[in-house]
Amino acid sequence: MKPFKKLFPLFFSVLLACSCASSANTDLNIEKKVAGLLSNMTLDEKIGQMTLISSTDLPLDGEFAEALRKGQVGSVINEVDPARVNALQRMAVEESRLGIPLIVGRDVIHGFKTIFPIPLGLAATFNPTLVEQGARVAALEATAAGVRWTFSPMLDITRDPRWGRIAEGFGEDTYFTSAMGVAMIRGYQGGEPGDPSNMAACIKHFVGYGAAEGGRDYNSTNLPERVLRNVYLPPFLAGVQAGAMTLMTSFNDNDGVPMTGNRFLVRNVLRHEWDFTGLVVSDWASVNEMIPHGFATDQAHAARLALEAGVDMDMMSFAYVGHLGKLVGEGAVSEKMIDEAVRNILRVKFQLGLFDNPYVQEDVHREMFYKPEHLELSRQSAVQSVILLSNDGTLPLDADKIRSVLVTGPMADAPHDQLGTWVFDGEEQATVTPLKAIREHYGHRLRVLYQPGLKYSRDKDLSGIRKAVEAARTVDVVIVCVGEESILSGEAHCLASLDLQGTQSELIAALKSTGKPVITVVMAGRPLTIEKEVSLSNALLYSFHPGTMGGVALADLIFGKEVPSGRLPVTFPKTSGQVPLYYNHNSSGRPFQGNETMLDQIPLKAGQTSLGNTSFYLDAGAAPLFPFGFGLSYTTFAYTNIRIDQVSYHQNDTMTMSFDLTNTGKTAATEVAQLYVCDKTGSVTRPVKELKKFERIALNPGETRTVIWNLPISELAFWNLQMEKVVEPGQFALWVSGDSASGEPILFEVKK
Ligand code: NOJ
Repeated sequence: MKPFKKLFPLFFSVLLACSCASSANTDLNIEKKVAGLLSNMTLDEKIGQMTLISSTDLPLDGEFAEALRKGQVGSVINEVDPARVNALQRMAVEESRLGIPLIVGRDVIHGFKTIFPIPLGLAATFNPTLVEQGARVAALEATAAGVRWTFSPMLDITRDPRWGRIAEGFGEDTYFTSAMGVAMIRGYQGGEPGDPSNMAACIKHFVGYGAAEGGRDYNSTNLPERVLRNVYLPPFLAGVQAGAMTLMTSFNDNDGVPMTGNRFLVRNVLRHEWDFTGLVVSDWASVNEMIPHGFATDQAHAARLALEAGVDMDMMSFAYVGHLGKLVGEGAVSEKMIDEAVRNILRVKFQLGLFDNPYVQEDVHREMFYKPEHLELSRQSAVQSVILLSNDGTLPLDADKIRSVLVTGPMADAPHDQLGTWVFDGEEQATVTPLKAIREHYGHRLRVLYQPGLKYSRDKDLSGIRKAVEAARTVDVVIVCVGEESILSGEAHCLASLDLQGTQSELIAALKSTGKPVITVVMAGRPLTIEKEVSLSNALLYSFHPGTMGGVALADLIFGKEVPSGRLPVTFPKTSGQVPLYYNHNSSGRPFQGNETMLDQIPLKAGQTSLGNTSFYLDAGAAPLFPFGFGLSYTTFAYTNIRIDQVSYHQNDTMTMSFDLTNTGKTAATEVAQLYVCDKTGSVTRPVKELKKFERIALNPGETRTVIWNLPISELAFWNLQMEKVVEPGQFALWVSGDSASGEPILFEVKK
C-alpha cells in the first residue's frame, strides 16, 4: 500500500519533531465476528485498521475520502463535529468493501464541554466515586459529538512538579493512582456493553513517562525493573483488570529502550503476564521518534520494532501504512503479527457497538452539553478538590459581618486559564470565575471591589499592584487569586523554578503591607513553592485548575457555604531544589533527625562531621512544605482508640482494624482518613510509608464514628530481591491519620 504521501507531506517532514479487555471480558460472539471479518481482509485493509490519523484539516473529498473508501484508515483523532463524524463514518461503513466503522478519538481529559478540575485536582478530592461520575459526564458529552475513544486516564506516577504533565495525573502514589484510574475508566466505559454513550478509555503512558529525568518532558527515564513493578506498573495492571479497552505507549526511553519498541514491557508483561487483549496504540508519532532516539535506523525499521513490541495502532507516524506491506512481502515481519494487531482493534470496535451503531445524532448533541446536573457535578468536584493549606481563623468569611472585600490577582477573573491544560472543547464563556461568583452569589450582602493587580500570571508590570493596594486600604478583607496560566503546565510545559511567576509574590506582599487580612487562592497546574506566600497570607486555599465551576466552588468555600475537604495527592516541596520529594521514598541508612545544623547556624570553620551526617539539604532540610495527604478543614478531627485485631498475622489473613474519628470542632465537615503501612525490613529496602486505604468520612460537630477497615495481608506484597511478588514475613508498622506525616505507629508482625 502506498502511504498517503501527497496528503500528509507535513507529517513526513516532521519525523524528527514531533474496556477492552482482559481476557475475562472477551465475548465469544465478538471473537467469532472478529475472526470472520479478519479472514476476508486484504493485507492493505488490515494495515488500514492499524492506522490512526488526525483528519480535521482534510477535505471530505479527494485522497482522504478515497483512503476511507478503500478501508485504509481505521481510526481518526480530533473530529468533534457530529456531521463530519457521520460523513466520515458513511464512507467507511457504506462505501468501503467491508464496512468497518471508524473509531473517533479525542483527548477528553477532564471533561468535554463541562470542564472538571484537572486530574491532579480530581485526585485531591480523594473521592473515586465523584471521579467516576465526572468521567461519565465527560463520556455523555463527548459521545454526543461522536467521540468514542478518549486518551485518558493518565496513570503516570509523578514525583516531580517541574514536569508539566503532573497536571494530568493523580500524583505520586501507586495505590492511590490505581484507585482513581479505575474510577475514571468505569466512568468513561459505562455499564452496558455497546451503549452508544460508552467511550473507550486509554490508559497511558505505558510506562515510566512521569519519571522523566530532571522533570523535563520526553526525557529519558532510568527505572529498574523492580521499581517499575513496585511503583509504575501497578496502576496499569489495575486499569487492565478494570477492563480498560486501550493503552498507549509512552515517548520516553527507559534504560535505553523507547517504550514504543519495548518488547519486554509491552509484549511480555502487558500481553503475556497480564493477558491484555485490548488495543495498544503508539503515542503521537512515537513510532517515528524511535529514529531520533537512535533506536531505529529508518522508518521501516521503526515500524518493525513497534509491531514486534506489540503496538497495534500507529498514531500519526504513517510508518505502518508506509512499510508494513513491504515488510510482510519481504518476510521481515509475519502477517500473523499483523492479524493479532487487527484482532485487538476490531475487538474494541465490536465492544463499543460501533458496527451496530456507527452514527451519531446530529441535531441533539448540544442538548447534552452543560446540563445543570453536569455543572453541579463540576462544582462539587471543584469544591472537594480545593485544599486549605493554612488558616489563622480568617476563613470562612461571614458575609453578614464583613462589609467589603477586594477581589484581586491575575487568576481572579481568568476564565480561560482556570480551565487548565488539555481543554480543546470547553469554552471560557461557560466558565464562572471567582470574581463572577463572588459578585453574583455574595455581592448583595457586601461590597465587592475588583482590581486585577496584574493582568496575567507572568505579568511584571508594577502599576496594577499600586492600584490594588489603594483599593485594599478601603476594604475589610482582601482575596487575592494567583497561580499559573493554563499554558504553563501540561505536555511539554515544564519549569525549572516552581516559584510564583511574574510579580505575583510582590502583589501579595504589597497587599499584606496594608494590614488587611489577606486570603490567598492559588490556581495552578502543579505544586508551586509557596512557603513565603503562606507566611504572607492569613489563609491559603490551593486549587489545581478547577474547571468550569471553579469560581463558584471557591466562593462557596471562602464564605463557608462549603467546608474544605481536599487533600494533597502530591508532596509540596519548599523549593524546587528538593525534588524529587515524595512521602513514600525508601528508608535511608541515615535518615534526617531534625536536629541537624542548618545553613544559618553553621559556625565558622565548623568541623567536618559536626553538622549531622544525615540525608538532608543544609538550606532546605529534608521535610516538605506540606506532606502528601495534607489538608485543613474549618473544624478539627481526632483519631482515638486505633486498634488492630491481632498483633501477628499469617500471609493469608485479613487484618481488621478500627478507630474512633471525632469531629472536635463546631462545623460539620468531611475528613479523609488514611491508612499507611511500613514494612520494616525486606530483602530490598522498603518505603518508609505506603498508603493502603483512604475514606472520606462526614461528621457533624461533636460526632464520633467508629470506623472499621479490613486489610488483606496479601496487599503488603511487593516485588522482592528474587523478583517475585510476595509478602515477606517480619515486622510492620501502621498509622491511621489525616496525612502522611502524622499519627503514632502501631506495630504488628507477619508470619510465614
Ligand atoms: C501526545 C500526548 O502525549 C498524548 O497524551 C495524547 O493523548 C496524544 N498526543 C494525542 O493527542
